[in-house]
Amino acid sequence: MSEIESIDAVQAMLAEEGYVCARPLATVVFLALRLGRPIFLEGEAGVGKTEIAKALASALGRSLIRLQCYEGLDASSAVYEWNFAAQMVAIRTAEASGQADRASLQEELFGPGYLLERPLLKAMRPDPSGAPVLLIDELDRTDEPFEAFLLEALSDFQVTIPEIGTIKAPQPPIVILTSNRTREVHDALKRRCLYHWVDYPEFDRELEILETRAPEVAESLSREVVGFVQRLRTEDLFKKPGVAETIDWAKCLLALDVLTLSPEVIADTLGAVLKYQDDIAKLQGSEAKRLLDETRAALDPV
Ligand SMILES: Nc1ncnc2c1ncn2[C@@H]1O[C@H](COP(=O)(O)OP(=O)(O)OP(=O)(O)O)[C@@H](O)[C@H]1O
Ligand SMILES: [Mg+2]
Repeated sequence: MSEIESIDAVQAMLAEEGYVCARPLATVVFLALRLGRPIFLEGEAGVGKTEIAKALASALGRSLIRLQCYEGLDASSAVYEWNFAAQMVAIRTAEASGQADRASLQEELFGPGYLLERPLLKAMRPDPSGAPVLLIDELDRTDEPFEAFLLEALSDFQVTIPEIGTIKAPQPPIVILTSNRTREVHDALKRRCLYHWVDYPEFDRELEILETRAPEVAESLSREVVGFVQRLRTEDLFKKPGVAETIDWAKCLLALDVLTLSPEVIADTLGAVLKYQDDIAKLQGSEAKRLLDETRAALDPV
């Protein structure tokens, strides 16, 4: 299916797109491309689950088709809908002109001209640049009936539209499913996929991500920021900061011309890192200083 030769090649091509890919994840991507299997990524918020689909599409020169899941998402909004408004206008026009040949009008109204293609159908259409990357994002937000429907759609990559017929993907898309694990996704769906838990990166990798995404931030500040965020994640917080927060925070500090962290700077900018008042309250007073001292001690052991 793909010309990618090795796990190293996967890492290199994603790096070109600014995505720092740990070897276990690169292995899953390599195998998914080789075997034509969907990838199922679970992990905390802001750890690069959505981003890898974008990076992969861009690296392979494929189009990215995204199905954003939400509560109440149903098959019709995921596959296709009829353009009712346009159908109504056509009916009125035909009536007004008095030439309503019912059979041909009906055929026209339920033909391709009035079909609204939604992500799953789009992903099954031939694409000159090759099979697209289909990102089914935040699957845990939908319900079980939709999951069951998806399971079927992913197994044969074809949809049947009663009025038009069956449409089959000439080449199956590269599928990436993500979940924040607000609920467990059904085993049957997981079984079809290669699974990977995307964890918070360790210090060196997070530093590498920050240097890739915000190269304008001085290295000494980047090290402090990453060290502090890593230290924060070991605290008992309601919502731990993801990599996205690390990048945001570093950019905020840069905008404020901060050269080095201090308890005052941390207190002023904590909203870039922690998004819950209870978590922010925990770092009031001497707590930020204690964490900063510990971060510094870990960065430069004496
Ligand atoms: N490995 C990485 N390499 C490069 N950038 C990364 C990486 N991981 C995260 N990022 C950065 O973090 C941001 C957030 O990542 P992303 O949106 O993919 O998170 P997510 O895991 O999908 O989170 P959520 O569960 O909240 O949707 C990205 O825009 C990207 O800038
Ligand atoms: Mg996401």
